[in-house]
Amino acid sequence: MRILLVCLGNICRSPLAEGILRHKATRRNLDWQIESAGTGDWHVGQAPDPRSVATARRNGIDISNQRGRHFQPLDFERFDKILVMDSDNRKDVLRRAKTDAHRAKVERMLDYSHPGQDRSVPDPYFGGEEGFEAVFVLLDMACESFLDHTLS
Ligand code: 4NP
Repeated sequence: MRILLVCLGNICRSPLAEGILRHKATRRNLDWQIESAGTGDWHVGQAPDPRSVATARRNGIDISNQRGRHFQPLDFERFDKILVMDSDNRKDVLRRAKTDAHRAKVERMLDYSHPGQDRSVPDPYFGGEEGFEAVFVLLDMACESFLDHTLS
Protein backbone atom coordinates (compact mmCIF):
# COMPACT_ATOMS: atom_id res chain seq x y z
CA MET A 1 0.00 0.00 0.00
CA ARG A 2 1.25 3.47 -0.89
CA ILE A 3 -0.32 6.32 1.11
CA LEU A 4 0.15 10.07 0.72
CA LEU A 5 -1.01 12.38 3.53
CA VAL A 6 -1.77 15.93 2.37
CA CYS A 7 -2.30 19.28 4.13
CA LEU A 8 -1.66 22.91 3.20
CA GLY A 9 1.89 23.63 4.36
CA ASN A 10 3.24 20.08 4.94
CA ILE A 11 4.80 21.27 8.19
CA CYS A 12 2.06 20.78 10.84
CA ARG A 13 -0.69 18.22 10.18
CA SER A 14 0.47 15.90 7.40
CA PRO A 15 3.97 15.35 8.88
CA LEU A 16 2.25 14.26 12.12
CA ALA A 17 -0.10 12.01 10.14
CA GLU A 18 2.86 10.52 8.25
CA GLY A 19 4.73 9.81 11.48
CA ILE A 20 1.72 8.31 13.25
CA LEU A 21 0.65 6.11 10.33
CA ARG A 22 4.21 4.86 9.75
CA HIS A 23 4.57 4.08 13.46
CA LYS A 24 1.31 2.12 13.52
CA ALA A 25 2.00 0.34 10.21
CA THR A 26 5.44 -0.74 11.42
CA ARG A 27 3.94 -2.07 14.64
CA ARG A 28 1.57 -4.17 12.53
CA ASN A 29 4.50 -5.46 10.43
CA LEU A 30 3.24 -3.76 7.27
CA ASP A 31 5.69 -2.77 4.57
CA TRP A 32 3.80 0.31 3.43
CA GLN A 33 5.13 3.35 1.63
CA ILE A 34 3.94 6.44 3.53
CA GLU A 35 4.77 10.03 2.57
CA SER A 36 3.27 13.51 2.99
CA ALA A 37 2.98 16.65 0.87
CA GLY A 38 1.48 20.15 0.92
CA THR A 39 -0.85 21.82 -1.56
CA GLY A 40 1.17 25.00 -0.95
CA ASP A 41 4.89 25.32 -1.69
CA TRP A 42 6.06 27.83 0.96
CA HIS A 43 7.74 25.24 3.16
CA VAL A 44 9.38 22.97 0.59
CA GLY A 45 12.59 21.49 1.99
CA GLN A 46 11.83 22.59 5.54
CA ALA A 47 11.63 20.41 8.65
CA PRO A 48 8.19 20.12 10.30
CA ASP A 49 7.01 22.92 12.62
CA PRO A 50 8.84 22.58 15.98
CA ARG A 51 5.46 22.24 17.72
CA SER A 52 4.62 19.20 15.57
CA VAL A 53 8.08 17.71 16.22
CA ALA A 54 7.64 18.24 19.99
CA THR A 55 4.11 16.81 20.03
CA ALA A 56 5.20 13.73 18.12
CA ARG A 57 8.21 13.27 20.39
CA ARG A 58 6.04 13.49 23.52
CA ASN A 59 4.05 10.62 22.04
CA GLY A 60 7.11 8.52 21.21
CA ILE A 61 7.41 9.34 17.50
CA ASP A 62 10.34 11.07 15.75
CA ILE A 63 9.34 13.16 12.73
CA SER A 64 12.36 15.49 12.78
CA ASN A 65 13.90 13.98 9.64
CA GLN A 66 10.90 14.75 7.44
CA ARG A 67 11.18 17.54 4.85
CA GLY A 68 8.36 19.52 3.25
CA ARG A 69 7.41 18.83 -0.33
CA HIS A 70 4.79 20.12 -2.75
CA PHE A 71 1.91 17.93 -3.96
CA GLN A 72 2.38 17.13 -7.65
CA PRO A 73 0.07 15.55 -10.25
CA LEU A 74 2.43 12.55 -10.55
CA ASP A 75 1.42 11.68 -6.97
CA PHE A 76 -1.89 10.41 -8.37
CA GLU A 77 0.12 7.64 -10.05
CA ARG A 78 2.66 7.07 -7.30
CA PHE A 79 0.12 6.47 -4.51
CA ASP A 80 -2.89 4.20 -3.97
CA LYS A 81 -4.59 6.57 -1.53
CA ILE A 82 -4.35 10.31 -0.97
CA LEU A 83 -5.69 11.26 2.46
CA VAL A 84 -6.41 14.97 2.98
CA MET A 85 -6.89 16.92 6.21
CA ASP A 86 -9.62 19.42 5.27
CA SER A 87 -12.03 20.66 2.60
CA ASP A 88 -9.53 23.11 1.08
CA ASN A 89 -6.92 20.36 0.71
CA ARG A 90 -9.55 18.18 -0.92
CA LYS A 91 -10.58 20.89 -3.38
CA ASP A 92 -6.97 21.76 -4.23
CA VAL A 93 -5.97 18.13 -4.80
CA LEU A 94 -9.11 17.29 -6.83
CA ARG A 95 -8.50 20.30 -9.04
CA ARG A 96 -5.29 18.62 -10.22
CA ALA A 97 -6.95 15.25 -10.92
CA LYS A 98 -7.42 14.29 -14.55
CA THR A 99 -9.29 10.96 -14.31
CA ASP A 100 -12.01 9.34 -12.20
CA ALA A 101 -9.42 6.82 -11.02
CA HIS A 102 -7.34 9.70 -9.65
CA ARG A 103 -10.36 11.33 -8.01
CA ALA A 104 -11.32 8.03 -6.38
CA LYS A 105 -7.99 7.94 -4.53
CA VAL A 106 -8.73 11.16 -2.61
CA GLU A 107 -10.33 10.78 0.81
CA ARG A 108 -10.76 12.88 3.90
CA MET A 109 -8.64 11.51 6.74
CA LEU A 110 -11.36 11.82 9.39
CA ASP A 111 -13.93 9.97 7.26
CA TYR A 112 -12.35 6.84 8.73
CA SER A 113 -12.72 7.77 12.40
CA HIS A 114 -15.81 10.03 12.06
CA PRO A 115 -17.76 8.60 9.08
CA GLY A 116 -20.48 10.75 7.54
CA GLN A 117 -19.50 13.90 9.45
CA ASP A 118 -17.36 15.64 6.78
CA ARG A 119 -15.02 16.51 9.60
CA SER A 120 -11.70 18.31 9.03
CA VAL A 121 -8.43 18.21 10.97
CA PRO A 122 -8.18 21.85 12.17
CA ASP A 123 -5.11 23.80 11.07
CA PRO A 124 -3.07 24.41 14.26
CA TYR A 125 -0.49 26.73 12.62
CA PHE A 126 -1.80 30.05 13.95
CA GLY A 127 -2.84 28.74 17.37
CA GLY A 128 -1.09 27.55 20.51
CA GLU A 129 0.71 24.37 21.48
CA GLU A 130 -2.50 22.73 22.74
CA GLY A 131 -3.90 22.74 19.20
CA PHE A 132 -1.11 20.40 18.14
CA GLU A 133 -1.95 17.88 20.85
CA ALA A 134 -5.62 17.97 19.77
CA VAL A 135 -4.53 17.35 16.16
CA PHE A 136 -2.36 14.45 17.33
CA VAL A 137 -5.31 12.82 19.11
CA LEU A 138 -7.56 13.18 16.04
CA LEU A 139 -4.90 11.83 13.69
CA ASP A 140 -4.11 8.94 16.02
CA MET A 141 -7.78 7.90 15.95
CA ALA A 142 -8.03 8.35 12.19
CA CYS A 143 -4.85 6.33 11.47
CA GLU A 144 -5.99 3.49 13.72
CA SER A 145 -9.40 3.43 12.01
CA PHE A 146 -7.78 3.60 8.57
CA LEU A 147 -5.58 0.60 9.37
CA ASP A 148 -8.50 -1.41 10.81
CA HIS A 149 -10.67 -0.59 7.80
CA THR A 150 -7.98 -1.29 5.22
CA LEU A 151 -6.86 -4.59 6.76
CA SER A 152 -10.37 -5.97 7.39
P1 4NP B 1 -0.29 22.61 7.80
O1 4NP B 1 -0.32 24.04 8.53
O2 4NP B 1 -1.13 22.76 6.54
O3 4NP B 1 -0.95 21.70 8.78
O4 4NP B 1 1.14 22.29 7.52
C1 4NP B 1 0.10 25.22 7.89
C2 4NP B 1 1.44 25.53 7.83
C3 4NP B 1 1.84 26.71 7.24
C4 4NP B 1 0.91 27.56 6.71
C5 4NP B 1 -0.43 27.25 6.76
C6 4NP B 1 -0.84 26.08 7.35
N1 4NP B 1 1.32 28.78 6.13
O5 4NP B 1 0.46 29.59 5.78
O6 4NP B 1 2.54 29.00 5.97
